[in-house]
Amino acid sequence: MTSLVWISGASSGIGAALAATVPWRDATVVDISRSGGTPGTEHLPADLADPDAWSLVEAHFLARLAGTDARRAVFVHNAGTLDPMGPAGAVDSRAYATNVLLNAAAPQVLGHAFLKAVADFPGEAQLYLLTSGAATKPYPGWSSYCGGKAGVDHWVRTVGEEQRARAAAGLPACRVVAVAPGVVATPMQEEIRATDPALFPAVTRFRSLHDAGELRDPADAARQLWSLADRDLDHGAVVDLRTL
Ligand SMILES: NC(=O)c1ccc[n+]([C@@H]2O[C@H](COP(=O)([O-])OP(=O)(O)OC[C@H]3O[C@@H](n4cnc5c(N)ncnc54)[C@H](OP(=O)(O)O)[C@@H]3O)[C@@H](O)[C@H]2O)c1
Repeated sequence: MTSLVWISGASSGIGAALAATVPWRDATVVDISRSGGTPGTEHLPADLADPDAWSLVEAHFLARLAGTDARRAVFVHNAGTLDPMGPAGAVDSRAYATNVLLNAAAPQVLGHAFLKAVADFPGEAQLYLLTSGAATKPYPGWSSYCGGKAGVDHWVRTVGEEQRARAAAGLPACRVVAVAPGVVATPMQEEIRATDPALFPAVTRFRSLHDAGELRDPADAARQLWSLADRDLDHGAVVDLRTL
């Protein structure tokens, strides 16, 4: 069975590890990011904080799925940013808006686009969105990131109910899951550790986890995410990989 797999932000960190560990043979893997360069992927260049890019991604989903003989279609929306760290009301306004567009708006708009593209897909459709413990725990200095991830969780719960209803009506349904990966050793974590505590007071916790060797390996987190495909999960599940 051939597979079409899109991963946003596969140029770095968890996304690159996901691309390297796709569990299906004969998968076409598309990296949607600004820089690309990950081996084994096709690069769809896109700045996902730019709303104009969202329709290009939707068009790519539709074009690749039209007349495809693939029997599995998967989108992992993984791209995210912490920039700018610091209190709301103090950080740069343009950077704050970019954070909101990428972390809060893009997951919903791109998730919707994928669901639209697979609405009549006769094969297996799966949509995973990267979330975080920051969805439920407030971290001063990360307001737009926390707000964005909380939005991801609730969007997934809501869309999960919609997909459950489609399945009950005998229509093609997509598995929609939010995935919190734990604290993973990526460039994002390096950025956190380098941040001034005045901008992000919890930085000491992340430095301690690093010093204690407690960061997760990106490949382990990636393999765990892919293992969700074989689990019996509810529509709209919000999963923390550390509890599997
Ligand atoms: N690492 C952790 O401990 C951790 C914990 C909880 C949740 N997460 C979540 O896991 C996901 C991946 O995090 P990571 O640690 O792997 O981060 P990372 O190493 O910083 O990688 C971020 C990825 O997002 C892409 N990206 C950023 N801004 C983008 C934009 N405007 N347009 C398109 N792509 C963009 C980057 O690609 P380009 O720069 O090439 O565009 C890069 O591939 C994020 O959603 C993050 O919130 C991570």
